[in-house]
Amino acid sequence: MKIVEQIKQPIGYEMELFEQKFQLSMSSQVALLNRITHYIVNRKGKQMRPMFVFLVAKMVSNGEISERTYRGASVIELIHTASLVHDDIVDDSNRRRGFFSINALWKNKIAVLVGDYLLSKGMLVCIDNNDFDLLKIISVAVREIVEGELLQIEKARKLDITEDVYYDIIRQKTATLIAACCSLGAASVKPNSQDVETMRKFGELIGMAFQIKDDLFDYTEDKIGKPTGIDIKEQKMTLPLIHVLNNSSKDEKKWIINSIKNHNRDKKRVKEVIAFVKDNNGLEYAENKMRIFKNEALVLLEAYPESEFKSSLVMMVNYVIDRKI
Ligand code: IPE
Ligand code: IPE
Ligand code: MG
Ligand code: MG
Repeated sequence: MKIVEQIKQPIGYEMELFEQKFQLSMSSQVALLNRITHYIVNRKGKQMRPMFVFLVAKMVSNGEISERTYRGASVIELIHTASLVHDDIVDDSNRRRGFFSINALWKNKIAVLVGDYLLSKGMLVCIDNNDFDLLKIISVAVREIVEGELLQIEKARKLDITEDVYYDIIRQKTATLIAACCSLGAASVKPNSQDVETMRKFGELIGMAFQIKDDLFDYTEDKIGKPTGIDIKEQKMTLPLIHVLNNSSKDEKKWIINSIKNHNRDKKRVKEVIAFVKDNNGLEYAENKMRIFKNEALVLLEAYPESEFKSSLVMMVNYVIDRKI
């Protein structure tokens, strides 16, 4: 059996029901909007975030989940989808999940509005059901995603990013939403319990590993359903490059920064920078950091009794760093 099928085994029924509810939560009376949300629903991603919601909820409650858990999964996937629609505008990226991105097909004006629509639909899933505790968790995550994206833009302009600032950026733009998945999964069944905070931390750690993996993909030519090799073009300095910069001579540093600042559209020059990063063990360094975050996440699971849900979560954690897309 494939690893993802194995992970999904204890939540197979929930994930099927979730897909129906998720699709319904996006529908609109406006024909153009409906066409676009159909396009989105038909090109689903890995759905790792709802999987985290269900697995955590079931682990902390011995399998007893509620409608709140389903709503939590829907709101998370809606917010995640909204963030991707906006992210592709910000990154000027034309591919997502193996197909054209929303901005590539409908242009930025429409893509901005579609992202806003999905965001509002997410909030309303909570509001319409008085799930204000879940709404609070998700709203904090939305604020942090935006702050993380803006911090990243600021650093891309100044080219003065440090390793610590890189961790701040990925914590905010990515890890915070995975932290929200896990704390919301726990809060959906055991509000105000210690599990809510423990699972938030667990999600944050695994979210850090998740984004380092995503940044490593950019250094490959793997078919991952979205462009690779675009970070340097966008002047986005990620962990492999930051590490290599920190360990280069003055002249090498100057050459790298000058390449990113003034030659980032020159394909040959960008390839040379990528090769330099690889030759100087930038990828190994980032992989090692990724594994440290992953192991810290696994430690937090040790306190929970053995169950099929916990086993799936452990597999999920390993999948985050071993995945091929
Ligand atoms: C992509 O997330 C955005 C990042 C935070 C890197 P996923 O890789 O989970 O996206 P989908 O939903 O599977 O397409
Ligand atoms: C993803 O950031 C984080 C958000 C969607 C906010 P990236 O720009 O690094 O992710 P991909 O590679 O486009 O999915
Ligand atoms: Mg992007
Ligand atoms: Mg981005």
